[in-house]
Amino acid sequence: MLDRRLTYFSELERFIREWDEVCQAVVFQAAPDLENEKSFDLAIPCFQWSKVKKLPPAKISEALAAALELAKDHLGLDAVESLNAYVNIRFRSDILQRELAAREDDPLRASREALAGERIAIDFSSPNIAKPFGFGHLRSTNIGAAICRIYQSLGAEVVRINHLGDWGTQFGKLITAYKHFGNADFVKGDPINNLYALYVKFHEEEQKDPALMDEAREWFVKLEQGNEEARELWTWFRDVSFHEFKKIYDRLGVSFDYVTGESFYNELMEASVSLIESKSLLKESEGAQVVDLESYGMPPCLIRKADGSTLYATRDIATAEYRMKTFEPTKLVYVVGSEQKLHFRQVFKVLELMGYPWGERWVHVDFGLIKSDQGKMSTRKGNIILLEDVLNQAEERALQIIEEKELTKPEERRLTPAEKKEVAKLVGLGAVIFFDLKAKRTKDIIFSWEDILNFEGDTGPYLQYSYVRLGSLLERAKAESIKWSKADWPLLAVEEERDLVRHILNFPAAVEAAAKEFEPSVISHELLELAGSFNRFYMKVPILKGESDQVAGRMHLIEMTRKLLRQGLELFGIQCPDRM
Ligand code: ARG
Repeated sequence: MLDRRLTYFSELERFIREWDEVCQAVVFQAAPDLENEKSFDLAIPCFQWSKVKKLPPAKISEALAAALELAKDHLGLDAVESLNAYVNIRFRSDILQRELAAREDDPLRASREALAGERIAIDFSSPNIAKPFGFGHLRSTNIGAAICRIYQSLGAEVVRINHLGDWGTQFGKLITAYKHFGNADFVKGDPINNLYALYVKFHEEEQKDPALMDEAREWFVKLEQGNEEARELWTWFRDVSFHEFKKIYDRLGVSFDYVTGESFYNELMEASVSLIESKSLLKESEGAQVVDLESYGMPPCLIRKADGSTLYATRDIATAEYRMKTFEPTKLVYVVGSEQKLHFRQVFKVLELMGYPWGERWVHVDFGLIKSDQGKMSTRKGNIILLEDVLNQAEERALQIIEEKELTKPEERRLTPAEKKEVAKLVGLGAVIFFDLKAKRTKDIIFSWEDILNFEGDTGPYLQYSYVRLGSLLERAKAESIKWSKADWPLLAVEEERDLVRHILNFPAAVEAAAKEFEPSVISHELLELAGSFNRFYMKVPILKGESDQVAGRMHLIEMTRKLLRQGLELFGIQCPDRM
């Protein structure tokens, strides 16, 4: 699948394939090891062939290393070493330089076509109307949007879908509550929070007056039947909610190709239920209709309630059918929290039983919770933490830190108040997004301002700051009339310099891995490594001093590092300020 023609190890890859037909899919790993006097650029793990060849990996490694040793010159290798189960490779400098030159204009060039021909339809964000936009939805939005950008950067086509939670019995409750306890002005004052307050109020009152529940059921039936008043209220709730969500999306820089909520699939549901029925999959259970999944080790999937109404799962089945037919995607992806794992396993299984053998093409990209020190950060139970507040606070805190940093700068280099605000905006937002995308997505993450905004930690601000540092280095060089051109390449005389080059060259592979695993954190890790490698280089080597060809090569390397850092952060929707 991966097109390696552009990479410096494609010759090597071909050689290994021809060396032994077992060794078809070659896997490489970065092998940075600065402890070593002469470190290696790549490692080839030999476990991968051990089973088929019925040999211990170390034996394969020895044989491969011996073969490579003989072809060293032809392959552009400087050193080959068999170490346990690995073959370590070091390229000649001219090979690395040539590769850098090939990626000069676009450091991500080697992976640009990796997923050409793929089309993913991706369901992400998908908040529920009339409820605050919660942390789960923030994660879904950030992870989903990153996956979209990553796939696009690899040449895939992407269909972005926001599956708004805009249908279900709760809208009967909401209409009932509105008619009893609300009015138009109240809702307009602060739409989402006040609609949510009505929803909470309904549950309080319903304890005292069970008749409210019957009323709510009636309203939902009316809504399903197209009653005008019910429809009008619902449409209005939907519009004012989305208007509020849109503010968050604009702020995060996220957009969708389709905002088709659950209600959109209402008309399609009967056809899906019929198909399920025609395959003899439907069973009665306490008045409800279900698909029995016991033989797959799952509880039954509820398709229709006793009162005839359909459910979340039914809507998802109809939705999946619609998306498969309409978009003909090579992958249909759902970015939804881990608490819905069972739901998606059930839905995918029912679809399979209906005759869609899609297997790996349906993907539930699940993720863990954001927790505060006190537990889950929830929007349901009243301890609401509003996303907007978090973003605003992140900006304010970033501004404070920037103000403090400014005081250590000479007067003439300080930012104007307007610039400071602008930078704080990028830094605050970048901090929150990076924090979200840093950890492996299935992990729960603990919300802590220190971890989010620390300029020296593994944070968005640290990466933005590194970007700025790279920029000032270039400025300083220009001020000192240092000249360099496209023809100047790093001489790779220092290991730290070589390490940086290696990180640049291996970055596209990380983007591909992130796509394959739907795991943006692979890129976060690589970004931190890249910045770390640069900062080590910066500390160790007086970059602006030395022979002129050496300095020129380094400046060119700095330029390329800066470009890549920006490209990588852009995959997350994080912008870099020029100064901070
Ligand atoms: N609105 C749902 C929730 O907040 C998420 C919907 C995810 N998408 C889907 N096709 N089920 O829990």
